[in-house]
Amino acid sequence: MSRSTDDRVPFHRPSLGIEEEAAVLRVLRSGWLTTAGEARAFEAEFAAAVGSAYAISVNSATSGLHLALEAAGVRAGGRVVTTPYTFTATAEVIRYLGADPVFVDIRGDDLNIDPHGIEQALAREERVEAIMPVHFGGYPCAMDRIVSIANDHSVPVVEDAAHAFPGAFRGKPLGTIGESGVYSFYATKTMTTGEGGMVVTDNPDWARRMTTMRLHGIDREVWDRYTADRASWEYEVVEAGFKYNMPDILAAIGREQLRKARGFLEARRRIAEAYRVLLEDCDYLELPPCCRDSSCHLYVIRLRLERLSIDRREFIDRLAALGVGTSVHYMPLHLMPYYRNRYGLKPHDFPVSLDVYSRSISLPIYPGLSDDQVARVAEAVRQVGDGAHGS
Ligand SMILES: Cc1ncc(COP(=O)(O)O)c(C=O)c1O
Repeated sequence: MSRSTDDRVPFHRPSLGIEEEAAVLRVLRSGWLTTAGEARAFEAEFAAAVGSAYAISVNSATSGLHLALEAAGVRAGGRVVTTPYTFTATAEVIRYLGADPVFVDIRGDDLNIDPHGIEQALAREERVEAIMPVHFGGYPCAMDRIVSIANDHSVPVVEDAAHAFPGAFRGKPLGTIGESGVYSFYATKTMTTGEGGMVVTDNPDWARRMTTMRLHGIDREVWDRYTADRASWEYEVVEAGFKYNMPDILAAIGREQLRKARGFLEARRRIAEAYRVLLEDCDYLELPPCCRDSSCHLYVIRLRLERLSIDRREFIDRLAALGVGTSVHYMPLHLMPYYRNRYGLKPHDFPVSLDVYSRSISLPIYPGLSDDQVARVAEAVRQVGDGAHGS
């Protein structure tokens, strides 16, 4: 029997309440919609939350990664070491600067970039100007090893922490371990402003550069222009910058989400634990590793295809027919036509990414998911898996 539309469990739903609604109204009624006091307050609150000296709000993590690499000195002809097991934003920003990504395969356990591969890339490649690890699904990369390799080669680390707030590595917030870290507040992320992001750093030179480049290469922000003692019309363009500032409407939503972020994390942890209990005896599944430090952004199960008579696509279709929305994170970048053609990459150049991709399914994991919905997702996975259990 098919379920009614209302019964469907969507892959994601943002957790927004009356607090966010009131915050938006407050900004709409203030008469000031673009970057000003709300963005400033959000930056101060976010910096305090992660213990960073500077937090710079931006209109997306993509913009933030671009700013951070630009501040790192990545330029045309340079190279940035990163993972193919990510969203294209991670690598496209390298191309914005005319530099090239050097992909390093992931480890099969946490799906994060392999530090040994980074060492090999640094030994092989000329002009590596940054290392950009991605904390996949919020699982911490091996930051001790990555930072030590980076220091040995005097190369800065920019953390793609798009999935990672509020995760940690040995107690230190993800995103604050390298020279700079970038968080995403896209609609499906661990906290959201619809679109948006935050860059953090302890480096005052990087902070100054990113703040300038964020708004047209102007030396001072709009807010300063209208509040400092300088004449309101005065400003100087010192670079050909970008238009990456976060509007106050979004910042106001972000401030409310930030207040709720710990609670959201606890909710995701409970869901991850429930999935583990409900699914751990399915011998056709590999469950994600338990990690108290993860932000638990994604819950990626891997099919043991040799024990099933259907492939991942069919598994997803059958879950959808049972009313369960899922997703796949990610189609690795080396399979994408742009990267494949530009760099002459073959599917087996990154065997771990290829293998993991071919059998991964991301299950719903967000605070609004009820216990009943979590149970229904697990039940649907079992129903499909048991029905296709080959041997
Ligand atoms: C790993 C990773 N990096 C960067 C981004 C870009 O984030 P945004 O959509 O905020 O630009 C994403 C978005 O999905 C992502 O998953």
